[in-house]
Amino acid sequence: ADQRKFFVGGNWKMNGNKASMDVIVSTLNEGGCNPNTEVVVSPPAPYLDYVRQKLDKRIGVAAQNCYKAEKGAFTGDISPQMIKDVGCEWVILGHSERRHVFGESNQLIGEKTAFALQSGVKIIPCVGEKIEEREAGKTEEVVFSQTKAIADNVKDWTNVVLAYEPVWAIGTGKTASPAQAQEIHAKLRKWLNDNVSPAVAKSVRILYGGSVSASNCRELAQQPDIDGFLVGGASLKPEFVQIINARS
Ligand code: G3P
Repeated sequence: ADQRKFFVGGNWKMNGNKASMDVIVSTLNEGGCNPNTEVVVSPPAPYLDYVRQKLDKRIGVAAQNCYKAEKGAFTGDISPQMIKDVGCEWVILGHSERRHVFGESNQLIGEKTAFALQSGVKIIPCVGEKIEEREAGKTEEVVFSQTKAIADNVKDWTNVVLAYEPVWAIGTGKTASPAQAQEIHAKLRKWLNDNVSPAVAKSVRILYGGSVSASNCRELAQQPDIDGFLVGGASLKPEFVQIINARS
């Protein structure tokens, strides 16, 4: 785990306004964040420009989604080129809410993966099983097929940080135990080893997401295959800094 720089993303989802973002941005700008952690926050699209302008340049900014075309008749969507034009570097793709609220398929997420990377935007693709899939013993089958749809579209893994977010742990206060998370992270790394390359498996950061908080982050961060977090609710609160510093 030590050769991979610890990475913490804050996914603000559809929350906040300029006033509340000012508070989070100044907390992050004030310092107190371990410089050995790579930090990226993800505001809703209308605030990407605003947050990018106010936030310390050492912290990255990610869009929460984008489409697989540069421009055109795609009402309501945004492109990787727009993300870059407002100075942002990253995009989250295939978040479980995109998959399960908005019906995005593996195929579409794969196409978005290819297009974002080829446009020069770094990606945080997300995978994770639903509770009924876990209970049916299908966790591996689900996360491997989601990962394959992404991996088939990646040429250069240096611009990819993978996130494992078990759907049953998102926004529920039910965190995967450190052992449960480690088990899937290790299996994902083995999948990368066998299906991409040993070098990629060793270097790619795999984040855990799902009810990460100041109180559970330290134990999770000690697991050998957990290289950081994608944080929802707690990334809107001051405790986000404690999560950023989980390895300090
Ligand atoms: O992308 C982060 C996420 O889905 C986890 O959300 O609120 O459970 O931390 P939360």
